Amino acid sequence: MKVRKLSLIREIIRREIEKEGVISFERFMELALYFPGYGYYMSNRLPWGKEGDYYTAPQLHKIFGIMAGIQLKEFWEVMGKPKRFTVIEGGPGDGSLARSVLSYLSEYEKDLFRSLCYVLLEKNPFFQILQKDKLNQFENVIWSEDLRDIPLFCGVFISNELFDSFPVRRVKMEEDLKEIYVTFKEGDFVEFLENASSDLKTYIDRFTEGLPKGFITEVCLKLKEFLDELSVKLEEGFIFTVDYGFTSKEYYSKERSGGTLVCYFKHRFHDNPYINVGEQDITAHVNFSALHIWGEERDFQTVGFCPLAPYLVSLGIDRVIEAMKRYIEPPDIFKLKMLLIPEGFGETHRVMIQKKNLGDVNLEGFKLKNIKHSL
Ligand SMILES: C[S@@+](CC[C@H](N)C(=O)[O-])C[C@H]1O[C@@H](n2cnc3c(N)ncnc32)[C@H](O)[C@@H]1O
Repeated sequence: MKVRKLSLIREIIRREIEKEGVISFERFMELALYFPGYGYYMSNRLPWGKEGDYYTAPQLHKIFGIMAGIQLKEFWEVMGKPKRFTVIEGGPGDGSLARSVLSYLSEYEKDLFRSLCYVLLEKNPFFQILQKDKLNQFENVIWSEDLRDIPLFCGVFISNELFDSFPVRRVKMEEDLKEIYVTFKEGDFVEFLENASSDLKTYIDRFTEGLPKGFITEVCLKLKEFLDELSVKLEEGFIFTVDYGFTSKEYYSKERSGGTLVCYFKHRFHDNPYINVGEQDITAHVNFSALHIWGEERDFQTVGFCPLAPYLVSLGIDRVIEAMKRYIEPPDIFKLKMLLIPEGFGETHRVMIQKKNLGDVNLEGFKLKNIKHSL
């Protein structure tokens, strides 16, 4: 039998399977993406840009970060302009969002900028070097590898496309609910099914109206763990999330009976997580209903939820474009459109804002559209 040469990360996963017998899909995804030094997001290879696998909204154009800056200013005012205002960015990628936000606030919102401490939550030492290089003109910026190392704070937890990269459990409905596990046979990773544990059954009972036979989907319990940690650390302020995802109703509807798991490799996407291991992104859509409900259980009240396009329009992206118009070149117009059109980020990406320990809050970005009732 011919055994294919294994990449190091495949070998690391194979060895863990050999030791443990089997691993959950969640563990497979965790190793493939986050194993120190070799996982997709932990190596010295950049996932983003032309040479990478995909682009994100903050990398597309700085206006995304400017709009985030405008939103942060509104948060700061709602909170009574505190003298110390901490913004923690989870999974800051190549530092594009941080750079646009900080450039905007340092130039146009000097009072807020003086109160600001911007923290980049980044585990990959190589990404940290890139981010430090990009942000070296700003003094009020610090780095941390883990939310657990950050002291209690008042301010904002902000992220773009963070939660979709959390490892997910995968389930399949047969006669009863099964969980997808991974083993290794004849040189390849192979899936097999085991009876689902009670935490998965509870989730499916809670967030779906029952799944039909054959339905395969994802469950992100890591999101709940993350909210547990965030609720300990964030004393007063906001969670500001931009990501692609659905409400439970959309997520577990017939149209998505094969789930939402997608892999990105060199600007193409497919659904096989067992190839290009460590060299491709593996991602699943966010269940915003779970973010909302688990948030409410941890004292985070949802202020608003809607697609990115109406949010940006409501927040005044037209006024910002008008003010910037002498700097806008023809290629920028395509990028700005991508932020707004349904085929770009405008409809797939959604914005959710949750608050903690604050009274009534009405935010500008949800004046045009707020569909939090659909969660
Ligand atoms: C899809 S990328 C998005 C990068 C960036 N936010 C952007 O929009 O360009 C997700 C990033 O989140 C990071 N990440 C995932 N889980 C994390 C966690 N628990 N803490 C901090 N970063 C995390 C990944 O390592 C990866 O760099």
